[in-house]
Amino acid sequence: MLMMLGAVQLGVAAACVVVLVPMGMAGWHLSRNKMLFFSGALFISLAICVHLIPYFPSIPDFVTSVSSVVVFEPRTSCINLVNDISWKVNPQNASSRLHNNATHDLDLYDKRWGWSDSHKLKACDFQKLSRPDASDLLNGSWVIVAGDSQARLFALSLLTLVLGSDSQRMDSVRADLFKRHSDYSIFVDEIGMKMDFVWAPYVVNLTNLTTEYKTQNSCPDVMVMGAGLWDMLHFNNASHYELALRMLKTKVVSLLPLSTELAMNEPVVGSSSHLFWLGMPVLINGMLNTEEKRDKMSDAMWHAYDRALGDSKLLRQTGGPLLLLDSQSLTWNCGPHCTSDGMHYDGAIYEAAVQIMLNTLLIESHQRL
Ligand SMILES: *[C@@H]1O[C@H](CO)[C@@H](O)[C@H](O)[C@H]1NC(C)=O
Ligand SMILES: *[C@@H]1O[C@H](CO)[C@@H](O)[C@H](O)[C@H]1NC(C)=O
Ligand SMILES: *[C@@H]1O[C@H](CO)[C@@H](O)[C@H](O)[C@H]1NC(C)=O
Ligand SMILES: *[C@@H]1O[C@H](CO)[C@@H](O)[C@H](O)[C@H]1NC(C)=O
Ligand SMILES: *[C@@H]1O[C@H](CO)[C@@H](O)[C@H](O)[C@H]1NC(C)=O
Repeated sequence: MLMMLGAVQLGVAAACVVVLVPMGMAGWHLSRNKMLFFSGALFISLAICVHLIPYFPSIPDFVTSVSSVVVFEPRTSCINLVNDISWKVNPQNASSRLHNNATHDLDLYDKRWGWSDSHKLKACDFQKLSRPDASDLLNGSWVIVAGDSQARLFALSLLTLVLGSDSQRMDSVRADLFKRHSDYSIFVDEIGMKMDFVWAPYVVNLTNLTTEYKTQNSCPDVMVMGAGLWDMLHFNNASHYELALRMLKTKVVSLLPLSTELAMNEPVVGSSSHLFWLGMPVLINGMLNTEEKRDKMSDAMWHAYDRALGDSKLLRQTGGPLLLLDSQSLTWNCGPHCTSDGMHYDGAIYEAAVQIMLNTLLIESHQRL
């Protein structure tokens, strides 16, 4: 018992150091701007939660949890958990159906989502950012969303959050954004945010784009990329896809300002761009709308493409530069009631992906304190 108390005291002391040092650092820089304040505040509450939680498990776990206090790294752990979202998809009741004037099968279901309820996730304190919070976070930044129709839907979701209830403005955004196969650019002057959507259906287009930014020496604050479905339909060759992804990875690593300091298997620390990969959604083969799609975009091919992504080492989990926005798990968990064509999903999916990105930005930005 004495030994155990000793261990506990040691743990408490360690926890204090781990909590107070970043807290002090955060306090020192708070005035820099609102974004840092916001992320600092979140980080402090996060750090406190994370470090207090180990003190409540059962006694036999005590010693191991005390030692884990010292090695636990909230930033990495929470980034690994941020895609862990669960869904409640229920038929709408008759009155809300009438109220919403449902014109589409998709609208017949209520889709609610939230971060899963586990112990570990609670410590990360993920939250759905409101419009003002998102505006604070993105104030003054340049955001690029590049890719196929999935990326376009993501861009729409991000703008819906930032522009809020101004439905007239959203209608005009939607009309411009959905001009077939075209780029789109908007400056949201209230918060000085610039967002570009770049139509880039193939990975080689993304690589090309990265090269362009590199030659212009311009570096976006946030960049979200994603492509794969066109490759699957038109090349139908997972090795082709993997090769393209590897080339993209090489280009992206060379775009990063601190790329020379980047060891191959370490996370990208201190880069000034936040880079995301919007994964491929689950394809529901029977719902795809052409014979060619049903034939080529089979489950087996989907899995081969998913493996190609892993093997390309593009993602942070495999030592690469991009953080995954896990469309696969979002769409899988939401299920067939969340899509009308087995490929493009309900707005709720992309809304969740946007919130995953924003929460990751919150966690990431504290590292710049
Ligand atoms: C539902 O919407 C359609 C067009 O979007 C409109 O013509 C119709 O009157 C609406 N019905 C109700 C009950 O609001
Ligand atoms: C954005 O930042 C500027 C200065 O950094 C500030 O004046 C402005 O109020 C901010 N806007 C929002 C919506 O936070
Ligand atoms: C690469 O970018 C250039 C300049 O925008 C464009 O002309 C060219 O078609 C692009 N090529 C590919 C493969 O995307
Ligand atoms: C994307 O790449 C394809 C294949 O190289 C090319 O044909 C197409 O023009 C490119 N599209 C854009 C928008 O750059
Ligand atoms: C698939 O792509 C790879 C790499 O581009 C190529 O070497 C191979 O021949 C392709 N396979 C088929 C069946 O086209």
